[in-house]
Amino acid sequence: MGNCFKKPAKCAHASSTNFSGSTKPDCKAKQDSSTSSEQTTLGSLNPSSITSSSDASISNNLKSFSFNDLKIATKNFRPESVLGEGGFGCVFKGWIDGNTLAPTKPGTGIVVAIKRLKPESFQGHREWLAEVNYLGQLHHENLVKLIGYCSESENRLLVYEFMPKGSLENHLFRKGVQPIGWATRMNIAIGVARGLSFLHSLDANVIYRDLKASNILLDSDFNAKLSDFGLARDGPTGDNTHVSTRVVGTQGYAAPEYVATGHLTPKSDVYSFGVVLLELLSGRRAMADDRVGFVEETLVDWAKPFLSDSKRVLRIMDTRLGGQYSKKGAQAAAAIAVQCLHTDPKNRPPMVNILAALERLPTSNIVPRTTQASVDHHRVKHLSNSR
Ligand SMILES: Nc1ncnc2c1ncn2[C@@H]1O[C@H](COP(=O)(O)OP(=O)(O)OP(=O)(O)O)[C@@H](O)[C@H]1O
Ligand SMILES: [Mg+2]
Repeated sequence: MGNCFKKPAKCAHASSTNFSGSTKPDCKAKQDSSTSSEQTTLGSLNPSSITSSSDASISNNLKSFSFNDLKIATKNFRPESVLGEGGFGCVFKGWIDGNTLAPTKPGTGIVVAIKRLKPESFQGHREWLAEVNYLGQLHHENLVKLIGYCSESENRLLVYEFMPKGSLENHLFRKGVQPIGWATRMNIAIGVARGLSFLHSLDANVIYRDLKASNILLDSDFNAKLSDFGLARDGPTGDNTHVSTRVVGTQGYAAPEYVATGHLTPKSDVYSFGVVLLELLSGRRAMADDRVGFVEETLVDWAKPFLSDSKRVLRIMDTRLGGQYSKKGAQAAAAIAVQCLHTDPKNRPPMVNILAALERLPTSNIVPRTTQASVDHHRVKHLSNSR
């Protein structure tokens, strides 16, 4: 299926990528340079049920769909059903019966999102298996629900609950989309923090490893759920302080010490969370536009001078908020982001503390539009060439 009916591959934003070699986002390509030690630990939430060489032991909670079922559910994967495309392949809208989970005609039963692995994806099977193993066993209101999977000859698909508002990325950065308000943004931050706190609280210390706006999906009430567990892995346990691993993830979001050394801890997720929080505050992408003539700059590098100065911190705020946000709340949220983005992972707070701090954020005291307009004007003057 190449790239979803000859649609150009999406290259415009930073993608999950192997960092070795290139410093550029690699246009959704993912390489498999995994070590054998990583393969054996994959999915060790329940080691007896997991193997990376066979699909025979997939979690029983999930429905096993035949390829034909999913062909029917998506009307033969027709282009009109495409919801989006990532490195793994295309995501289609499909229909199944809510009780029997049998495929139905479009418009009847429940809507699902069906992700189809593209055949040329190097490490797709491995990520597919990690997704099935993690999401087959982990259930939380801030994790997207995996309903089932298909593994038939070369075909690998995943069937998820449908998230009507799509990804956070679309709401923050896509042109022509109505901007989301302050309270909704903070509610999304809280939902993401709850999802990560849950993962980090598990015995297996699960590290999500690919937190970014495109992996945060939104339900009809804009509640956030984490999707894409293909890169997730169990964290350090016992006396171990970190897990050593190949470096994968997404530029602009990945923690600097992880990129530099491959040392992975739950604090790597905390850093990525800080980047997402900055995206919610500023409406700017984690990675600056890499079109010719634009300097490659991370959002963190751009925002740091403002974040360290309490008088200038509100200059990072998204002008599309129209000044309709709590000044104190924004300052407090920016202070949380600063802590998450600390260079030394030991100084980053654990997710559970970040969640508590976000839940305490003041949501009232909206700054009047007129006051904000002057702040925004200054910001535009000061920053117009920066990103
Ligand atoms: N469960 C879902 N419900 C509704 N839309 C979905 C669902 N899952 C994915 N999508 C849509 O499909 C798009 C592509 O998702 P996918 O996870 O394949 O790629 P990505 O997150 O953009 O990139 P990457 O491969 O780097 O993770 C999403 O941005 C979203 O718009
Ligand atoms: Mg994704």
